[in-house]
Amino acid sequence: MKNKNFLAACALVALSATTLHAQSPVYLDKNAPIEERIQDALSRMTLEEKVAMTHAQSKFSSPGVPRLGIPELWWSDGPHGVRAEIEWNSWGYANWTNDSITAFPALTCLAATWNPELSYEYGNALGAEARFRKKDVILGPGVNMYRHPLNGRNFEYMGEDPYLASVMVVPYIHGVQENGVATSTKHYVLNDQEKWRGHINVEISDRALHEIYLPPFKAAIVDGQGWTIMGAYNKVRGQHACHNEFLLNDILKGDWGFDGVVVTDWGGTHDTKEAALYGLDVEMGSYTNGLTSESEFGYNNYYLADPYLEMLKSGEVPMSTVDDKASRILRLIFRTAMNPDRPWGSQATPEHAAVARSVGEEGIVLLRNQPAVKKGNPLLPIDASKYNKILVVGENATRSMSAGGGSSELKPKNEISPLQGLQAMYGDKISYAPGYMAGRSMYGNVDVIPTAVEDSLRAEAVAMAKDADLVIYVGGLNKNHEQDCEAGDRIIYGLPFAQDALIEEILAVNPNMVMTLLSGNAVEMPWINRVPAIVQAWYLGSEGGNAIANVLSGEVNPSGKLPFSFPVKLEDNGAIHYGEMSYPGDSINQTYLEDILVGYRWHDTKKIPALYPFGYGLSYTTFEFGKPVISNKKMDRDGSVEVKIKVKNTGKVAGKEVVQLYVHDKKSSVLRPEKELKGFQKISLLPGEEKEVSFTITPAELSYYDDVRHEWVAEPGIFEALIGNSSTNIKGKAQFELVN
Ligand code: BGC
Repeated sequence: MKNKNFLAACALVALSATTLHAQSPVYLDKNAPIEERIQDALSRMTLEEKVAMTHAQSKFSSPGVPRLGIPELWWSDGPHGVRAEIEWNSWGYANWTNDSITAFPALTCLAATWNPELSYEYGNALGAEARFRKKDVILGPGVNMYRHPLNGRNFEYMGEDPYLASVMVVPYIHGVQENGVATSTKHYVLNDQEKWRGHINVEISDRALHEIYLPPFKAAIVDGQGWTIMGAYNKVRGQHACHNEFLLNDILKGDWGFDGVVVTDWGGTHDTKEAALYGLDVEMGSYTNGLTSESEFGYNNYYLADPYLEMLKSGEVPMSTVDDKASRILRLIFRTAMNPDRPWGSQATPEHAAVARSVGEEGIVLLRNQPAVKKGNPLLPIDASKYNKILVVGENATRSMSAGGGSSELKPKNEISPLQGLQAMYGDKISYAPGYMAGRSMYGNVDVIPTAVEDSLRAEAVAMAKDADLVIYVGGLNKNHEQDCEAGDRIIYGLPFAQDALIEEILAVNPNMVMTLLSGNAVEMPWINRVPAIVQAWYLGSEGGNAIANVLSGEVNPSGKLPFSFPVKLEDNGAIHYGEMSYPGDSINQTYLEDILVGYRWHDTKKIPALYPFGYGLSYTTFEFGKPVISNKKMDRDGSVEVKIKVKNTGKVAGKEVVQLYVHDKKSSVLRPEKELKGFQKISLLPGEEKEVSFTITPAELSYYDDVRHEWVAEPGIFEALIGNSSTNIKGKAQFELVN
């Protein structure tokens, strides 16, 4: 009897579960098609609920629909790690004790690896940390093009070449989003300087826009399938980028078919009607309608809050605008916050540290490697048996580079400084002198260091250098205001804090110097011919010191290649060459006068050699390139050619080489850059080992963007495939013809 009752009760439970299930709304059914879930949720929402979703409810969150059990969204910087918790209603840090994370290398370093697999690992580890921290959107990656070396935020981007940045950005996005965390590729678009970033109006040709500045964003959206994108602060052709009809409605949502969310940069909204009509979906970070004070109801004053509601009610803007925005936000929520299948994530694990270290090791670029006294072996890798006293000089050897720089600032659980890494490698042989001092400043108020302090630091370093067998100088830029830092550009191309004078004085007493530059930008190097070894070591995050020590010691053979050119002097850069109207503008407008000739495209075409060219980087081994072999001499419009080349490691240690394919158009009706990167492969070779690399070229790789026809055009004629290991070190050429 008892058993019978029990069975009846079970049946009842089962029945009510089915009934419940049958009645549960479609938007809660994770197996229902996402578009049906969106329409169902939308049909249940009030106008006020839809409008509420389109703007912030705190500094880094935006509302869901609490009445329907639809959760809010949490956004976080980005792009090199998950930023520490910020207070609800102010920019202050919340001082939590459980938000210390892995700091990954800056994106310039990731680009310098030329290794898409590492980009995936980077994104995947970052996404896991974001997920563990309960973030739904990570504000990154950044792919504004490296137009000139003064931009304070170049370190957050992927260099000067649209092809390299496009290839590298896609796996980062896939890696992050596999965690059920959205990326927000930023800053769309033409935010290529920090000076006047909030209002400068950029004028640019369609051709430069399509050939140089748009491709990495397009790759992020079309190939990467990024779920959100962040608008830029600046104006483009007279309209703010965060509500720009041409950029957002026509190109992004029209041509590229973007179905995700456009979020403002924080405080990048300026007009309700434009925001309603011209493609913006979520407004974040605004001050309350121009008032700098914020009340607890401040968010109602946002452009897309009460003023938007009123415009909708009065019919000034159509209801379809809010339905579209709310649909996109719901789609984002279903992909992230309401995705029951997403993993739990993890934070500051040894595995994530290993990813950070590998990216650092593969991204460090060996720029120069000569013997110290004109003969003998190159100075690197360091032969520790030769040296008893190794002096490390420079504030960057001990300074946390995760602090500073603006919104990308991080609070790492561990951060190995270069000095700590070198001490772990060389023990008691290491001594240290700071040599100079920079203070700390982020958004202005640069610290002035008293001359007496500077003099004594310099004197101490020089005296110690005299007595040392080897000097490892660790300097460069830092994340202070007017260095590599948001909200201000660099003001000089040379090294700051009188480092050049310090370097000269040290060289005068000890020429055995390894120069380790930490920066996200090119710098002037007046001492270049007197420093035997130079290494570009970026900002490397948690594992920086270990990565540097591993490369300098030869534990790891360097294989990074520059993602941007280092001009000899600032005026050698195309954007700077054209003067004030080109950079920084007259404070209202600027025109990109160098047009498509950005970076190496400028240096090559104008025959202005760079100090270090794009794609350049040395190794501790040597590689021999064979002759390129081409599959066919003629190619028609539906066809392709295949170019193959053999590469052999002819040295004594294992190493990695980046085989780069550039295309040169022999004759064209329009100006073309001398050459353009159209393919690359990073290969790993043991001593004596040989591998064949192959590239496929189609008409797409031969095209330019025609401003008049508004389409990509490949003109018939002769082209050359150039294969090398930098943009200037071309090892072999193969010619072919595109026929009609
Ligand atoms: C930056 C963005 C950042 C946002 C939120 C802005 O100042 O330009 O890159 O994601 O702040 O911190």
